[in-house]
Amino acid sequence: MAVPECAPQGELYRAAPDLCQAAHVPTFQCYQELYHRSLEDPADFWGDIAKEFYWKTHCSGPFLQYNFDLTKGKIYVEYMKGASTNICYNILDRNVEKNKLGEKIAFFWEGNEPGNTMKITYSELLLKVCQFANVLREQGVKKGDRISIYMPMIIELVVAMLACARIGAIHSIVFAGFSADSLCERILDSRCCLLITADGFYRGDKLISLKQIANEALQKCKEKCFPVKRCIVVKHLGREDYTFKEASNQSPPSKRMHLDTQVPWNADVDLWWHELMRDASKECAPEWCDSEDELFILYTSGSTGKPKGVVHTVGGYMIFTAATFKYVFDYHPEDVYWCTADIGWITGHSYLTYGPLANGATSVLFEGLPLYPGVSRLWQIIDKYQVTKFYTAPTVIRLLMKFGEKPVKKYNRQSLKVLGTVGEPINPEAWLWYYNLVGNKKCPIVDTFWQTETGGHVLTPLPAATPMKPGSATFPFFGVVPAILDEFGEELEGEAEGYLVFKQPWPSIMRTVYGNHERFETTYFKKFPGYYVTGDGCKRDKDGYYWITGRIDDMLNVSGHLLSTAEVESALVEHAAVAEAAVVSHPHPVKGECLYCFVTLRDGQEFNASLTEELKKLVRRKIGPIATPDYIQNAPGLPKTRSGKIMRRILRKIAKNDQELGDISTLADPAVITQLFSNRCQTGL
Ligand code: PRX
Repeated sequence: MAVPECAPQGELYRAAPDLCQAAHVPTFQCYQELYHRSLEDPADFWGDIAKEFYWKTHCSGPFLQYNFDLTKGKIYVEYMKGASTNICYNILDRNVEKNKLGEKIAFFWEGNEPGNTMKITYSELLLKVCQFANVLREQGVKKGDRISIYMPMIIELVVAMLACARIGAIHSIVFAGFSADSLCERILDSRCCLLITADGFYRGDKLISLKQIANEALQKCKEKCFPVKRCIVVKHLGREDYTFKEASNQSPPSKRMHLDTQVPWNADVDLWWHELMRDASKECAPEWCDSEDELFILYTSGSTGKPKGVVHTVGGYMIFTAATFKYVFDYHPEDVYWCTADIGWITGHSYLTYGPLANGATSVLFEGLPLYPGVSRLWQIIDKYQVTKFYTAPTVIRLLMKFGEKPVKKYNRQSLKVLGTVGEPINPEAWLWYYNLVGNKKCPIVDTFWQTETGGHVLTPLPAATPMKPGSATFPFFGVVPAILDEFGEELEGEAEGYLVFKQPWPSIMRTVYGNHERFETTYFKKFPGYYVTGDGCKRDKDGYYWITGRIDDMLNVSGHLLSTAEVESALVEHAAVAEAAVVSHPHPVKGECLYCFVTLRDGQEFNASLTEELKKLVRRKIGPIATPDYIQNAPGLPKTRSGKIMRRILRKIAKNDQELGDISTLADPAVITQLFSNRCQTGL
């Protein structure tokens, strides 16, 4: 790859010289040299990064061992096996003791309600984590136990996850927007012995009674013969103290005061967080873990409909998230960094918690929403904390674009230096709005492509080094070797389009699907032996830039969150009126993609507005609000092949009102097509 002089599809964007001067990787040539070194001698390259961390014992065997080829045996990846460390010790104790960052702010917490704020330093965070780790130990939690965490974006969520990591327990965080069914399914799959949650929280104006949803989930677990022994509850609603000392300027509005008695309580199982913490000791020795011990499980949608518990391990995840954070955001100690993702997703794990803390960074932790109480909220927060590095999703940018320039220009955003995006392809229009307006034409945009499975950035620009093309995730990060394959598994060279795969591991690649290694092997390594298959389509242009074209399996990406069509279909067919359902993805101006559902009703059932509402509610209840269908269409018949397979390709075209159906010779009953076109939902297309 050579630095192109000019972009074939338009302008190339480069960082300003002052950013380059101070950057860790100042030029494209420097990136190339480091990249080649990372491939030629991975042990040396990653070994140098690992040296910045504390290892109780070093590994005596090979730095990396792996097999990516299913035809040669079991798939496995091991980095520094035999070395022992503790990630919590490294991001807290090491930063406090060795790096003298005890007084540095780890998080500025900005609540949903403006004015509700807290801050916590590295030493205060360490203390809270030690106390809570002791609480967990007192509850009998041991190394290797799984702990489910279902919490809003509050500091206690970080405390809970790091406390697990400190004692070697495996956290499984479930996004607080998921339903009771989804939480129950995840608790059962990972056999969690304890749940940590909160009484509730506000999302904008809306009260979410989290404990009530958690109770429903626990009840369902019990009915499935898996009673969870303990549930620890943070009292977040109406808290007056804002426990980490930094009191809010205003007391919470009185409508938001909640009494203990309003929280549904089960005295056999439930315990208040603050009561347990009151008596907990402030000293807690870390549990030394093998580099390959499991750190956490995080569920992601699977094409069969059942979520997959993606497993990440301690050592590789630690060094990769630390290194990507440092290089991709060009982190410097004076930065104030803000990632708007929820900790319930991988972005919040890697780039709101582990990566920034490993670097001793100061971050903003935001509980609220971009449009609450007004459409300038994000820009106001950027000015308030003088944020220098800002990381968000294309869906957020598109949402804010709708309100024009004025709400952005109300704030000056002069502190910003680097902008980032993640979660889905960013359309050039949104990229340019972000670059020209939000970043005042002076901030490079790092369009980071990665997945829950990859643990960290795999394709991404480096802000000072990589000339940017709007919409391209550009080049691989250190240690990552992408390839594009055709349908037959042949590697395509030069300009090409096909399946995006990776040829060798990098430290934070997932190690297995929890409790189902075979599913891990089949999902990611079976289609093309010798490669990790991402499930994404990709183009490489003549300058070697990578452009993600979107999912090529039965997954869809709604507002940057992956959902499987099968998951939604199985929720829909639970309704007594529905005989069959087929779900396809449909373009959406803000969410990127949305759900367009075709339902075939049982005999005698009537399709009407109230049924449509019931079905939407059902999907929300079974999965969560992110999965709410935008369109539900009556489909008395579905387009099927003679062997009974639904032809989704045709359904996608019908949803888009595209009459060019291509080859329909394998269709069993072509008559259904006319009927489906005439029943279409009004989508504006
Ligand atoms: O399709 C790709 C898309 O998001 C998928 C991964 O989703 P998830 O595991 O939920 O993780 C999201 C946060 C890392 C990918 O397979 N995706 C993610 N980032 C990008 C992207 N698509 C295009 N460009 C990106 N920068």
